[in-house]
Amino acid sequence: MLRNLILYLSRASWARRIVTHWGVARRVALRFVAGETEAQAVEAVRRLNADGLTATLDVLGESITAEEQAHEMARAYVSLLDAVHANGLEATVSLKLTSLGLDLSQALCEDTLRDLLAHAAECGTSITIDMEDSSYTERTLAIFRKLRAQGFDNVRTVIQAALYRSEEDIEQLAGEGAGIRLCKGAYKEPPSVAHPKKSDVDAAYVREMKVLLDAAFQGRGYPGIATHDEAIINEARRYTAAQGIPADGFEFQMLHGIRDGLQRELAGEGYGMRVYVPFGTQWYPYFMRRLAERPANVWFFVSNFFKR
Ligand code: FDA
Repeated sequence: MLRNLILYLSRASWARRIVTHWGVARRVALRFVAGETEAQAVEAVRRLNADGLTATLDVLGESITAEEQAHEMARAYVSLLDAVHANGLEATVSLKLTSLGLDLSQALCEDTLRDLLAHAAECGTSITIDMEDSSYTERTLAIFRKLRAQGFDNVRTVIQAALYRSEEDIEQLAGEGAGIRLCKGAYKEPPSVAHPKKSDVDAAYVREMKVLLDAAFQGRGYPGIATHDEAIINEARRYTAAQGIPADGFEFQMLHGIRDGLQRELAGEGYGMRVYVPFGTQWYPYFMRRLAERPANVWFFVSNFFKR
């Protein structure tokens, strides 16, 4: 109930106006984002790299409504890729297709992404296309496959275990040797397309994770196991050890500000550990999805409100 309400509010412009004007919301949101500027994000990645963790940087912003905003976002990503290169950061970038104008024009979005991938290659890094709600899944996978077919081997994407279709998508993508980040799924989805029960999502996640790990072991793909769920992480540790899958054949991924201790523990054990580092002023929908994932975050938020 609470999750659905928060996810509804994450898309409501009236709620965005109210929440983003609260100083306290900004303070709490900063737990989940590295800051509002590129310089702050670069500094956060420097600290992660110094501790043996890698990163993927995300310029916050999604569902843009004007072409100029897509160009603005592209400029922000070019600047970010240059900063990754200039600072020698161990970092990739992540982006959302709706931030490049997918809702306005698929051609604009694809052309912009193609230019960014070429620039990322020059900077020696890759781009992961985040997965948005299920109305975008088909188009996202089509664009991902098209760019790979055009020779871009530095593009990766995301599959959400919550969706029924994902078991089939994972089988196909693993066969294609695609670079996949597997997550549970952060969006509100109807029961016609996604498992309503969390235990079913978790079980699907483990099945799909094993398909990706097996493919990686056979030299196809390099999966990102993106979760903070310790039971799943332990199963990944157990499964890879039992199958003899080397620690450099995959990586764990977590979000900035969540389970920092576990992130360092895994890196200390020799696993690849990549942290998703979002930054920028457009933090509202990202922040609301993080609140929805864990009711305790809402109480953290509310208690901070009363501490003003
Ligand atoms: P689960 O929700 O079961 O949480 C397990 C434990 O992790 C919790 O008990 C708690 O301890 C901790 N935890 C989880 N979320 C927390 C939070 N918000 N605050 C504090 N603690 C929390 N989704 C998507 O739809 N498209 C995408 O492209 C991505 N990309 C992505 C990248 C990376 C690197 C990660 C880690 C996640 C995503 N996600 C995503 C989000 C993902 O779908 C999912 O919503 C969150 O990771 C939460 O699910 P968990 O797997 O952590 O499990």
